[in-house]
Amino acid sequence: MIEIHKVSFQYLSSTSNILENVSLKIEKGEFVGIIGPTGCGKSTLCYMLNGLIPHSIKGYFSGVVSVSGKKIIDESVEVMSAIVGYMLQEPTFQIATPNVTSEIAFGMENLGISREEIIKRLDGILETLGINYLRNRATADLSEGEKQRVILASILAMDPQILVLDECSSMLDLPSKLELATTLKQLNKIEQKTIVMIEHDLDYLLELADRIILINNGQIIADGPAAMILTDIDLLRENNLVPPTVVSLFQEIQKESKIAVEIPDSHSQATKILRRLLK
Ligand SMILES: Nc1ncnc2c1ncn2[C@@H]1O[C@H](COP(=O)(O)OP(=O)(O)OP(=O)(O)O)[C@@H](O)[C@H]1O
Ligand SMILES: [Mg+2]
Repeated sequence: MIEIHKVSFQYLSSTSNILENVSLKIEKGEFVGIIGPTGCGKSTLCYMLNGLIPHSIKGYFSGVVSVSGKKIIDESVEVMSAIVGYMLQEPTFQIATPNVTSEIAFGMENLGISREEIIKRLDGILETLGINYLRNRATADLSEGEKQRVILASILAMDPQILVLDECSSMLDLPSKLELATTLKQLNKIEQKTIVMIEHDLDYLLELADRIILINNGQIIADGPAAMILTDIDLLRENNLVPPTVVSLFQEIQKESKIAVEIPDSHSQATKILRRLLK
């Protein structure tokens, strides 16, 4: 479904390759977390999934990227945007219209969806994301977190097969983040949406992602099940990443404890282990 084959990329103004000979495949319905230290090339990699690189962001690009059977080099960003719902890291850059309803309708209008269907989807998505209260607001007055939620609404309303979310919860408070996690799980598990999520909060990914791709210095350092990569404390620290809190905590318990304690790979497993220990 997503295939990146031997891709290298250098921005016009950079002095060396930001991505170096990267290859990976993502199948339909996977929930993939992309992690890596700041500046390692996560956003750059994802810009290729809807063709922002090489069509809008210029540089030296080589290799092949295909998404849903389409080579991005042959397609416009508009065409790819119907397949790939893309949430940029900076919400302000993505807002295109003056008010919330026009913003959510904008993408659907570009897809040629009927007026009736637009209104139906708009009502549905405001309800699902719990942002009906933003309906009559001007986009310029929204907080950064509100902008993130409105952008997500506009993307989900277009019903793309693939969601690429670049730090989509970075400006949300904890309750909103947890609500968003529930929505994303449903989209992935029930509607079989493929989700590619760049995220610095590894606790969040431990709950959400099935697979993790770790990038550093423009290369894939590790690619495997979330339960494996996110519990590999040494690998994470070597790459300047903070392990999930629950993983670090259990490593501490492991060191102190005289009985065998395994490292949990989810919050629910951590609860089970703690229950057993406290018996
Ligand atoms: N338009 C640009 N022109 C030149 N260099 C750029 C451009 N955009 C990004 N870079 C550089 O490319 C490298 C990778 O940037 P990128 O935004 O992909 O990193 P990232 O992993 O997403 O980081 P973060 O976690 O901070 O978002 C960085 O060194 C960055 O400064
Ligand atoms: Mg980034």
